[in-house]
Formats: sequence, structure tokens, C-alpha cells
Amino acid sequence: MEIKDKVTKAINKQINAELYSSYLYLAMAAYFEAKNWPGFGRWMRLQAQEENSHAMKFYDYVLQRGGKVVLDDIKAADAEWKTPLEVFEDVYDHELKVTVLINDLLKLSRQENDAATESLLKWFIDEQIEEEANSKQIVDKLKLIKDSNNGLFMLDHKLGERK
Ligand code: FEO
Repeated sequence: MEIKDKVTKAINKQINAELYSSYLYLAMAAYFEAKNWPGFGRWMRLQAQEENSHAMKFYDYVLQRGGKVVLDDIKAADAEWKTPLEVFEDVYDHELKVTVLINDLLKLSRQENDAATESLLKWFIDEQIEEEANSKQIVDKLKLIKDSNNGLFMLDHKLGERK
């Protein structure tokens, strides 16, 4: 069954949101790397790649269902942070917003009786649980670390091990 225009439109919006996420995390990677925090930077680069793969998952899906992929402008990412904690708080807040978007998409797919889209979204719902938990864990660690340079060095090293 060909995908409905209403669903295609909403997924195209989500492709844009995922690409914006990638753009935002890339800005965060640049912030960290400019400040000589290579581990935080690596973590963000990989996060940016992951967001790109989320966009591509939706992209491939629309094509597979016979819909038209429409790529809109990506808005500029605000790139002003004072501390690593501020950056990761922004990551966590951003992921909470993405979860709302995914939940809204699920609602729409149910209204439109689109079981295939609903099935795709199950993967994203699980993914959001992980995305929220990971960023929240880093926020909590940074709150404990406060201004300890030692703690920051250790966390930078740890996050730099991300595969
Ligand atoms: Fe694509 Fe971080 O959600």
C-alpha cells in the first residue's frame, strides 16, 4: 500500500529534525574540539553520525513506500555554551523534544491506520529511551564533577572510548 501524503509529509519533517540534530551535535563537537576536549568531541561526532543514520532510516523508508522525499532547509544550530554541563543539558533537552516528535508521529500513523509506519516507529521509540538515558547519565556525572578538572579529564577520556 502506498504511503499517504499526510504521513509522508510528517516523516519528511522528521527527516529534517534528525538532520538538524546531526547539525546541532556537530556544532557541539566543534565546540569541544576547539576547547581541546577530544573525548567529548569524539562522542559528539559519533552522535552526529547516528542522527544522520536516523534521518536516512526515514529517508529509505519513504522511498520504499513509494513516497517523495522532500529535503527542506536545515536551521542554524545555536552554538553558544559556557561549560560541558551546559552542552550536555542541551543534548538531554533536545532528545526530550525529539521523543515528543516521535510520539506525535506514532499518533498520526495510528490515526491514519498506517501499520507499517507504526512498526518503523517502534524502533525509534526504543532508540529514544536509550538516547535520553545516555545523555541524562552524562548530565548527572557532570553535575557530580562540578569544577573538578580531574573529573572532567576522566570523563573526557571515558567518552572518547565511544565506538
Ligand atoms: Fe534521532 Fe537523538 O534522536
